[in-house]
Amino acid sequence: MSKIEIQLCVNGEERVVQTIPGRTLLKVLREDLNLTGTKDGCSQGDCGACLVIMDGKSVNSCLVLAPQADGAEIITVEGLAENGELSNLQQAFAERWGFQCGFCTPGMLISSYALLLSNPDPTEDEIKRALAGNLCRCTGYKPIFDSVQMAAELKTDKNI
Ligand code: FES
Ligand code: FES
Repeated sequence: MSKIEIQLCVNGEERVVQTIPGRTLLKVLREDLNLTGTKDGCSQGDCGACLVIMDGKSVNSCLVLAPQADGAEIITVEGLAENGELSNLQQAFAERWGFQCGFCTPGMLISSYALLLSNPDPTEDEIKRALAGNLCRCTGYKPIFDSVQMAAELKTDKNI
């Protein structure tokens, strides 16, 4: 199959990728760009492990084809830390035990980041609704909701 070229801005860096049209953004990130923080849990839009921010909105990268992402600005979980320092959100997940095995965590962080971008002071119900598309087999969810609440309290203008 003939290849196409797409351009992405990933975590602030311009990237050019030669890929095939049917390849998903998830595979482009993980396999072409070696950004393996974004996880593949179900490949069909059910688990939220593959969430990334695309042009300001969280999307399941397993459901986005490479050509649809051409020209997009993408933030992956690797883009949340700044200069090697954990963001407030990541710090809150660590302090409130918002993860166990960690497989769902990149998606949880991205959903939470998108929530806090649009709603800096969410209620518990709003946090639950925002994370409704993210499945976790380990934590029972409560520590995750507490982590997001803590991150909202820590949030500054510069750092979510
Ligand atoms: S891997 Fe995309 S939603 Fe599960
Ligand atoms: S921490 Fe294991 S799936 Fe959520």
